[in-house]
Amino acid sequence: MNQIKETIASTVAEILANDALPAETLRDFFDTPPDPAMGDIALACFKLSKLLRKSPMVIASDLSSALAAKPIPGVAKVENAGGYLNFFLADSYRVSLLAEMLRQGENYGSNEIGKGKTMVIDYSSPNIAKRFHIGHLGTTIIGNSIKLIHRFSGYDTVGINYLGDWGTQYGKLVVSFKKWGDEEVIRREGIEELNRLYVLFGTKAEEDPPLNDEARKEFALLEAGDEENLRLWRLFKEISLKEYMKTYELLGVSFDSFNGESFYSDKMPAVVEELKEKNLLKIDDGASLVDLEAYNMPPCLILKRDGSSLYPTRDIAAALWRKKEYAFDKCIYVTSAGQSLHFAQWFKVVGLMGYDWEDQLVHVPYGTFSINGEKIASRTGNVVLLDDLFQEAIEKAGAIIEEKNPGLENKEEIAKDVGVGAVIFNSLSANRIKDVNFNWSEALNFDGNTGPYAQYTYARACSILNKSEAFTCPESGTLCDEEKALITTLALFPERIVRALNEYEPSIITRFALDLCQSFNRFYNACPIRSAEKEEKAIRLSLCQAVKNVLGCALHLIGLRTPEKI
Ligand code: ARG
Repeated sequence: MNQIKETIASTVAEILANDALPAETLRDFFDTPPDPAMGDIALACFKLSKLLRKSPMVIASDLSSALAAKPIPGVAKVENAGGYLNFFLADSYRVSLLAEMLRQGENYGSNEIGKGKTMVIDYSSPNIAKRFHIGHLGTTIIGNSIKLIHRFSGYDTVGINYLGDWGTQYGKLVVSFKKWGDEEVIRREGIEELNRLYVLFGTKAEEDPPLNDEARKEFALLEAGDEENLRLWRLFKEISLKEYMKTYELLGVSFDSFNGESFYSDKMPAVVEELKEKNLLKIDDGASLVDLEAYNMPPCLILKRDGSSLYPTRDIAAALWRKKEYAFDKCIYVTSAGQSLHFAQWFKVVGLMGYDWEDQLVHVPYGTFSINGEKIASRTGNVVLLDDLFQEAIEKAGAIIEEKNPGLENKEEIAKDVGVGAVIFNSLSANRIKDVNFNWSEALNFDGNTGPYAQYTYARACSILNKSEAFTCPESGTLCDEEKALITTLALFPERIVRALNEYEPSIITRFALDLCQSFNRFYNACPIRSAEKEEKAIRLSLCQAVKNVLGCALHLIGLRTPEKI
C-alpha cells in the first residue's frame, strides 16, 4: 500500500511542479477515508491551500483534471469530493498485492529498521522468594512482545531477567530460616515455604524490631561472602527459579540471561568511585546521593548511611556493564508506572556521568492489573497468584472447548493455549499505560474481542486450507467489496508493526489482529469458497492463506499460540 502512495505522491508532485511540495512532503498529506465507498486513499487538499493560495475545492478540481490525462497504474479512478481527492485502487492492483504477500510468506510484515542493531530488554525480573503474582504479568508479557516485535524488525535481541536477588530482604529470609525454617520443608514445599518464612519475619519483626538489625547483619555477612549464608541464598534462588520457569514455559517466554541484582554486587564500588571522581556525589545526613534539583527531580540515592548500595546504584552498574557487554543501541526496561521516577532519575545520572548514550535507555511503563467480578481463589489472601489465574483460565477454556467440540484431539494442550492466550490477549488489548481489569466472561468469550475469538478465526482459516486442493494466487482479477476490504486490512500489517515498534505498544498488534479477524469473518460469510469459479476460488483461498500467515504472525508477536484446530 505504501508503494502506491509513493507513486500517487510523485505523480501529484510532478503535476504541481512546486519546489515547496515535493513527493516526500505530499506523502504525509494522505489519509485513509473513513468509508471504503469514498475511496482507498485520500489527499486532503486543504493542507495544500496555504502554499498554493487556492481553495481546497479549486486544487482538487485542477488536480483531478490533470490526473485524468495522466493515469496512475494501479489506480482505477480518482474522484474529487469536497476538497478531497479520492483514489480508488484497481482490483488487479489489489490482487497483485495479495500475490506479493504470499510470496513473502512468513516475512511479510517484517522490516529492517533494526538491521545491524542490538536491543537489550530487561523484563519480568521478579524478586526471588516471592511467588509470581498478577503484578508480574504485565512486565512479562509486554516485555516479551516488545522483544519479539524488535526481532521481527531486524534487531538482535537480548532478553534479560534481572532477578531481584540481592538486598536486605535476603538477610531477613536468612534470619527467618535460621530461626523457624527447615531445609527439608523448603525443598518439599518450594517457594510457598520461602514466602511463608518471609511473611513470618515481617510479623515477628513488628513485635521485636531488633530482628531487623539481625537481618542487616546476616545480609552484610552474605555480602562479605559468608559460606553458609551464600549456600542458603543459592538455595532460595534455585527454588524460586524452578517455580518461575514453570510459569515462563506455560507462557512461552524465554530469556537470554538471568543476571540479576546480585551479579552486579561486585561492580558497584567502581560506580560509586566514578561518581565521586566526577564530583557528582553529595553527602546528606551520612547518605550519598546525586542532586537532581536542576532537573526537577528528587535526589538519586546511591549509598545508605551504613554504606550499603541501593536499587538505583545497582541499575547504574548494570547499565554500564550491559553497554560494554552487548554494545546495545537501546536498552529497554519494562516495569509498572510506579517506577517511572526511579528510571528517570538514574537515566539522568548516567547522562551526568558523561555517557552519551543516556537517550538509548528507555523506560516502558504500564498500568496496574486487577481482577474484576468473580473473585479468584488464592491461598495467600489478597494477592492473585499467576499460577491460580492461569489454572482457572485453562479450566474455563477447557470447559468451553468440551462443550463446543467434544471430539477434539489433544484437548488439554489446546485448553492451555486458549486459556493462557485469553489472559494475554485481554491484558494486551488496551494501551499498556491503562489499567487492566480482568473479567472472565469477557476474556473467554469466543464471540467477543478476545484471544479465543482470534485463535478460533485462525483455526477456521487453517481448516479451509486443509480441506482445499492446491492453488496459486493469480496476479490479477476482480473482487467483491469484502475481498477488497480484507486485502486493505492485510496490507496495513507492515505499518502497524512499525507503529508498535516505535511506540513500544503491543496493543497496536492486538487491535490489528481483531480488525483482521472481523474483516476475514465478513469475507467468509459473504463469499462462498467451495462453489466458486476457478479464478475466484484461487483468490479466496489465497486470502485464507494470507490471513493464516498474517494472523498467525500477529498472534505470535503478542505471545499467543495458534492451534490449528479448536
Ligand atoms: N525486581 C524489580 C521489582 O520486582 C523490577 C526490576 C526492574 N528492572 C530494573 N532494571 N530495575 O520491582
